Amino acid sequence: MIIPHDRAVAAKSILAAAVFLSWLAANTGAQHSSVNPDIPYIPTPHEVVERMLGLAGVGPDDFVIDLGSGDGRILIGAAKRGARGFGVEIDPRLVKQSNENALKAGVGLNISFIQQDLFETSLRPATVVAMYLPPQVNFRLRPRLLELGPGTHIVSHEFAMAGWLPDLQENVRGTEIFLWIVPARVAGEWTLKLGDREITLQFKQLFQELTGVSRIGGVEIPLGVARLRGDQLEVVVQKMSGIPMTLTGIVDGDTIRSTPDSDEKWIALKKKPGD
Ligand SMILES: C[S@@+](CC[C@H](N)C(=O)[O-])C[C@H]1O[C@@H](n2cnc3c(N)ncnc32)[C@H](O)[C@@H]1O
Repeated sequence: MIIPHDRAVAAKSILAAAVFLSWLAANTGAQHSSVNPDIPYIPTPHEVVERMLGLAGVGPDDFVIDLGSGDGRILIGAAKRGARGFGVEIDPRLVKQSNENALKAGVGLNISFIQQDLFETSLRPATVVAMYLPPQVNFRLRPRLLELGPGTHIVSHEFAMAGWLPDLQENVRGTEIFLWIVPARVAGEWTLKLGDREITLQFKQLFQELTGVSRIGGVEIPLGVARLRGDQLEVVVQKMSGIPMTLTGIVDGDTIRSTPDSDEKWIALKKKPGD
């Protein structure tokens, strides 16, 4: 049963989508420029902001970048959780309002708002990127997001990113939120030393999705499980005895090391470093 409050939230969400679609229709074909916003200002409801920050696990160690920061509410919420960061916003009135809102909330020292085009903003320091941007903008940003450090969390309100499936998706009172975790790059061939044994692992990678084979003593067997979450890898290889063995490791460039809690210590090296 829909209670009146839910109805009101659902109606707001439909209204926001309608505002965006009519704006998109009116602006289709318009050239992207620093004076043309890529999406009009539609604030994310506070409840959705909290769930986005929760989904991304924002905490004191995080540096959050909000792309198209509106009135600053996402970053202010992040700062209340102890995070630092900045927002970029093309509309100078919203930048002014965000700075005032941050001061009022008592978090003005940890965050800042810059009037800038998000396409001209370096995302390098981010551990979390927040967005409420249309799908075509998310798609344009995709290559730059994938260059961020493995484990960087990207959280989006309402809109997905073509081709890259989210690691998590949640519905908050009728609106979708998405989380992607930037995956380490593991495609290619690795040699793993486990005691006096040598195992070859061959991975094919589509974003965080992995398939592959292991080779032990010249015998090639498809990997039963191969999972990647940021820099954390889990693979299940079949030993010569037929018994499955789970390997969990941390990817660091061209090296993968067994996690500290692994029973057996191992190290895997990429066959063609930098590939
Ligand atoms: C849908 S609103 C979201 C606002 C805020 N992030 C929130 O969730 O409440 C998108 C915001 O992005 C801003 N924006 C659009 N294109 C931009 C661009 N190229 N660079 C920076 N900001 C932009 C708009 O002015 C608007 O405030």
